[in-house]
Amino acid sequence: MSQEKQGTQGRQGEAASGQGDGFVLQTARLGLRPHRLGDIPFMMALNADPEVVRYTGNVAFANEEEAAEIIRALGRQYEETRTGRFLVVERASGESVGWCGLKRGEDGAFDLGYRFFRQHWGRGLATESARACAEYGFGPLGLARLVAYAAIENPASIAVLTKLGFRAIGEEFVHGMQARHFELLAVEYRAAAG
Ligand SMILES: CC(C)(COP(=O)(O)OP(=O)(O)OC[C@H]1O[C@@H](n2cnc3c(N)ncnc32)[C@H](O)[C@@H]1OP(=O)(O)O)[C@@H](O)C(=O)NCCC(=O)NCCS
Repeated sequence: MSQEKQGTQGRQGEAASGQGDGFVLQTARLGLRPHRLGDIPFMMALNADPEVVRYTGNVAFANEEEAAEIIRALGRQYEETRTGRFLVVERASGESVGWCGLKRGEDGAFDLGYRFFRQHWGRGLATESARACAEYGFGPLGLARLVAYAAIENPASIAVLTKLGFRAIGEEFVHGMQARHFELLAVEYRAAAG
């Protein structure tokens, strides 16, 4: 097990005991926590950038209530499954830089997704937070499999999934775009980690 992983798991324990800033997960640079209604401005600003939502099937929120409804739905999901798209905070600055997390689909599969402000792209933040979410899913939550979708024209997202060990298992038309469907099994992830 790598030092990074040992650190992540240890800090999860701190968060679970109620210390810190409400973070469910922590990595070297980041803290991940469920969204709160106070995060409405963050959510609206993130989706307001057409480049950020280009491959996601979303558009900018029309008003605060739309963003609030998403946050309430995420809250219900967290209560039910302990998963959800978590807000990602850069701990050194306290800045909310994006979101990342697991979401249970209608077929029961848990999907990994992420979205960051453009000024933070290329810093490894998606990979770092996605790895923490995969370890959370395969570890404390005991999930056997994760899935993910990425538009075939979104190489940055495909690169993140590939770095984590996700395998392409097909292509589907999602949100009006051709998308690659990926999966990662817990046994594969553990085997790759050694
Ligand atoms: C996709 C996204 C989350 C990636 O975030 P990020 O923090 O920049 O990701 P990372 O820095 O961890 O890794 C990105 C990888 O993609 C690679 N990459 C970026 N642009 C690329 C391109 N045009 N071609 C090939 N590789 C590319 C980077 O080199 C990096 O890989 P490396 O570490 O091996 O060099 C970010 O671009 C984003 O928020 N996009 C908008 C929302 C979105 O599309 N979400 C995914 C929906 S499926």
